[in-house]
Amino acid sequence: MYRILIVLSLIGILQFPVDSKKLPSFIKPCRRNDPNLDACVKNSAISALPHILRGNKDLKIPSYLPFEVPLVEVEPSPGLFFKLTNLKLHGLDTAAITDIKIDLEKQTFMLKLFTTHSKTISQYEVDGKLLSFAVYGTGPAEITSVNATTHVSFSFGMVEKDGKRYINISSILPIIDYNPGIVHYQFDNLFGGNKLLGDNINKFMNENPDEVADITNIPNVAVIKAIILQTMKSILRGVSIDEVFS
Ligand SMILES: *[C@@H]1O[C@H](CO)[C@@H](O)[C@H](O)[C@H]1NC(C)=O
Ligand SMILES: *[C@@H]1O[C@H](CO)[C@@H](O)[C@H](O)[C@H]1NC(C)=O
Repeated sequence: MYRILIVLSLIGILQFPVDSKKLPSFIKPCRRNDPNLDACVKNSAISALPHILRGNKDLKIPSYLPFEVPLVEVEPSPGLFFKLTNLKLHGLDTAAITDIKIDLEKQTFMLKLFTTHSKTISQYEVDGKLLSFAVYGTGPAEITSVNATTHVSFSFGMVEKDGKRYINISSILPIIDYNPGIVHYQFDNLFGGNKLLGDNINKFMNENPDEVADITNIPNVAVIKAIILQTMKSILRGVSIDEVFS
C-alpha cells in the first residue's frame, strides 16, 4: 500500500457556507430531459473551460494557469519516499474535452480529456528504491508530457436543503485513468549532484517509461484528483442541481 498526502492552497472554498448561489454565468444550464443531454453538457463544459482555467475571484476559483500544489508526498511503492514541493503544472489550457457522459438517474459522471502539452515544474526529494536502483536526492524536477489522456469517472450523491437538491461534493471519489502519453523526466541534482549516476537514472526513466509508469502515475493521479475536486467544489458548492439541469 502507499500513502498520499496532498496539500492545496485553497482559499476558503473548502468551508461549507452553503448559502444558495447562482450557477456561474459562463456555465450554460442543460435541460434534464434533453435527448442529447451528453452533447449539451459537453458543449457547456467546452465553453466554460477557459473561464474556469483563468480563475475567478468572485467565485474564489484560483487560476489554473499554472495549477499550483504546495506539497505532494507519496510512497508510490514500499520503501520509496517521494516528495514534490511548490509544484506548478503548466499546460492545462492545452486540454480538450473529448467526451462527457452524465446519467442523472444513476448519478454517474464520466469525462475524457486530451492534453497536448503539459509540464510540471517542482522541487523534489526522493529516497529509497526505484525498481532495482537505490536513489536519493533533492533538487529541481521538470516533467513534460505530450498527448496525455485522462479518463475521470465518479458517482455522486445528493443532499437536500430547504427543498432544493445539491450534489454532495464529499460523496465524489473520482476514479482516474491517466495515460501520460510521451513523457520526459528531468530530475536535477540526484545523488547529491553526482552527474553520472543522476544522468543514468534520468536516462533509464526516459527510455523505460512503461516500467516507471506505475510509480510516476501515483503522484500524477493525486494531482488530477485535486484538480477535479477543486473544480467541482468551486463551481457546484451551493448551486442547486435544478439550476444546472432545468
Ligand atoms: C499528438 O497528437 C496530435 C493530434 O492527435 C498529433 O498530430 C501529434 O502527432 C501527436 N504528437 C506526438 C509526438 O505523437
Ligand atoms: C455526503 O457524502 C458523505 C461521504 O460519502 C457522507 O458521509 C455524508 O453522509 C453525505 N451527506 C448526506 C447529507 O447525505
